[in-house]
Amino acid sequence: MFRFLCLIIILFVVSGEEVSPRIVKERISLLSFRSGVVLDPEGALESWNSSGVHVCNWTGVKCNNASDHVVQLDLSGLSLRGRISPALANLSSLLVLDLSRNFFEGHIPAELGDLLQLRQLSLSWNLLGGNIPEELGFLHHLVYLDLGSNRLAGDIPVPLFCNGSSSLEYMDLSNNSLTGEIPLKNECKLGALRFLLLWSNRLVGRVPRTLSNSTNLEWLDLESNMLSGELPSEIVRKMPKLQFLYLSYNGFVSHDDSSR
Ligand SMILES: *[C@@H]1O[C@H](CO)[C@@H](O)[C@H](O)[C@H]1NC(C)=O
Ligand SMILES: *[C@@H]1O[C@H](CO)[C@@H](O)[C@H](O)[C@H]1NC(C)=O
Ligand SMILES: *[C@@H]1O[C@H](CO)[C@@H](O)[C@H](O)[C@H]1NC(C)=O
Ligand SMILES: *[C@@H]1O[C@H](CO)[C@@H](O)[C@H](O)[C@H]1NC(C)=O
Ligand SMILES: *[C@@H]1O[C@H](CO)[C@@H](O)[C@H](O)[C@H]1NC(C)=O
Ligand SMILES: *[C@@H]1O[C@H](CO)[C@@H](O)[C@H](O)[C@H]1NC(C)=O
Ligand SMILES: *[C@@H]1O[C@H](CO)[C@@H](O)[C@H](O)[C@H]1NC(C)=O
Repeated sequence: MFRFLCLIIILFVVSGEEVSPRIVKERISLLSFRSGVVLDPEGALESWNSSGVHVCNWTGVKCNNASDHVVQLDLSGLSLRGRISPALANLSSLLVLDLSRNFFEGHIPAELGDLLQLRQLSLSWNLLGGNIPEELGFLHHLVYLDLGSNRLAGDIPVPLFCNGSSSLEYMDLSNNSLTGEIPLKNECKLGALRFLLLWSNRLVGRVPRTLSNSTNLEWLDLESNMLSGELPSEIVRKMPKLQFLYLSYNGFVSHDDSSR
């Protein structure tokens, strides 16, 4: 028994400071994520090793004050190459996930829809393909969503506009290969929306009338799609805060009294 206790004490001393079991689980998620990174030319993830650097001090990682939860993972602009591991879904307290401006390829893991606390998701400027998982529409606290300049295809999932976050202020899906209509149905409302950027896709159909309910919209860019119907002047007239409106390179028809 005494020997056993000694062993425990020694183990405790060797492992350094006390570490909460929750952060141990999150550390495992981060290491699974790192194993999906095949190239790290700037050595950004070198601190992600077992030689005594606490998880909360790893490059790009921020914890809450008690250091028992990872709340931010920001690895933007580090030229990382690889795939995004679904293991990130176990960082259950994550508020900010920013992997933008890297070379991540493959699909966006649907498991990211489990990160229910997430406020900001930035995956722009990567090589991500496939569909946008509809699970991202389950992120009810999302404020900022940027998936722009990837290779995403397929229709925009309805839950993103309809079942998604009522606090969503920024949505950028521009410069992809998205098809279908803008899935904003009558019963849906994006009341907090300030920025909607859908330029350079293959979107068809009309600009949904329901968009007029987004009265906080400041920036609307639908340029370079295949949208049709009348110029949506009736819709944008109800948006007192609108400062930037880009509609060119579509198939809109304009009537005398509706062109602005
Ligand atoms: C672990 O990271 C530290 C800090 O970046 C570095 O000095 C050390 O060489 C690394 N150790 C290993 C085994 O990679
Ligand atoms: C992180 O590093 C700083 C400075 O090196 C240190 O003061 C702090 O205690 C470390 N945090 C943890 C949780 O180990
Ligand atoms: C940490 O504590 C400081 C001061 O108590 C507070 O301002 C800050 O918001 C806290 N940070 C987090 C991530 O909780
Ligand atoms: C989350 O962690 C559990 C073990 O704690 C593991 O079984 C599960 O596969 C992990 N989830 C993902 C998406 O990797
Ligand atoms: C809305 O999201 C919840 C999960 O938060 C899901 O169970 C439900 O099926 C979704 N509804 C629609 C219409 O997508
Ligand atoms: C659109 O994305 C591609 C990469 O997919 C990039 O090369 C191009 O510069 C982007 N276009 C604009 C106008 O940002
Ligand atoms: C949105 O606007 C349409 C008409 O433009 C209206 O019929 C509908 O009730 C509104 N929806 C919500 C959720 O406010």
